[in-house]
Amino acid sequence: MRASIPLTLISALFAASSALGASGDDAIARGKYVFDAADCVACHTDAANQGAPLAGGRRLDTPFGTFYSPNITPDAATGIGTWSDEEFFAALRHGRTRDGSHLFPVFPYPSYSQLSDADIADLKAYLFSLPPVTRENRPHEVRPPFGWRFLIAGWKALYFTPGPFRPDTGKDDKWNRGAYLATALGHCGECHTPRNALGAPVADQALAGTSEGPDGGSVPNITPDKETGIGGWSEDDIDTLLSLGMTPDGDFVGAGMGEVVSNSTSKLTPADRAALIAYLKSLPAVSNQVARKSAK
Ligand code: HEC
Ligand code: HEC
Repeated sequence: MRASIPLTLISALFAASSALGASGDDAIARGKYVFDAADCVACHTDAANQGAPLAGGRRLDTPFGTFYSPNITPDAATGIGTWSDEEFFAALRHGRTRDGSHLFPVFPYPSYSQLSDADIADLKAYLFSLPPVTRENRPHEVRPPFGWRFLIAGWKALYFTPGPFRPDTGKDDKWNRGAYLATALGHCGECHTPRNALGAPVADQALAGTSEGPDGGSVPNITPDKETGIGGWSEDDIDTLLSLGMTPDGDFVGAGMGEVVSNSTSKLTPADRAALIAYLKSLPAVSNQVARKSAK
């Protein structure tokens, strides 16, 4: 009887501490899934020059000039290691950096702004579980006036609507999950939607493709248009593309999409991929023939 008291206590304490550990680990595991689905690694790693993961320095060419991604490892001096939850949240939801100034939308926060609070919190837990890497950020080389951060305020007033994603109650859960995967996480439109002269996506051309995509290359029309889009692809065809990178003709995607597949869409659960495909299939078909052009 007596001996059972400490035993109960010990097992209760053990249960409490392991539950605590499990919830932290769960946040990290969930955050890793968000991180993959959002493909944060692509831009924040200078893979072409064997840069360390997430330590930044990748060159991103745009019509406005050249941007270099910053270090988002938890390094205290050169990364985001001392950022609070609120500061991290402000970057993703509102496109603001630590001192409150506006971030350039080449960081696709117009998409990530749609993430849920929980996904942003898990993402931070995951990023902060990774090894810090010391690497100074490289300044952007952007033509005036496009390099002036204060002008981004005007751009945001015109083109930016902060999230989070609001489900369409007229649609089922699968469709809404697919919409969230395509817009908030996968940010497919950041590459597949044509942009206006100020670099904002053209709403009624969503996912209709462009010959002026990242690094000046063309990005195909992925609306269900039969002639100019992927309306002739079956669900299995799209699944094969998103899991293996292979088109119905047996070609493998290159350019930016190869990375999207290997970092991101191939790592989605089959249920998430099916939801994403159902969402793509439900979109209005937009006729837009994109001329083939390679990225620089
Ligand atoms: C298409 C390329 C691209 C992708 C994808 C991307 N980023 Fe970035 N990110 C950038 C660029 C470029 C900047 C710098 C913007 C600026 O200087 O205004 C940036 C800035 C940031 C900042 C602010 C850092 C600072 O020092 O101010 C954070 C935090 C960040 N990104 C996190 C993420 C996370 C988390 C993901 C995935 C959910 C992600 N990024 C995906 C390109 C990208
Ligand atoms: C970083 C830019 C980028 C992002 C983000 C992106 N794509 Fe792509 N995608 C491309 C490019 C470029 C190609 C063409 C690749 C090629 O032909 O080698 C492509 C090709 C495709 C194709 C094949 C279409 C065809 O006609 O061959 C599909 C389907 C596709 N993307 C779906 C998606 C979906 C779904 C998302 C979001 C989860 C997405 N893409 C996100 C750049 C991107």
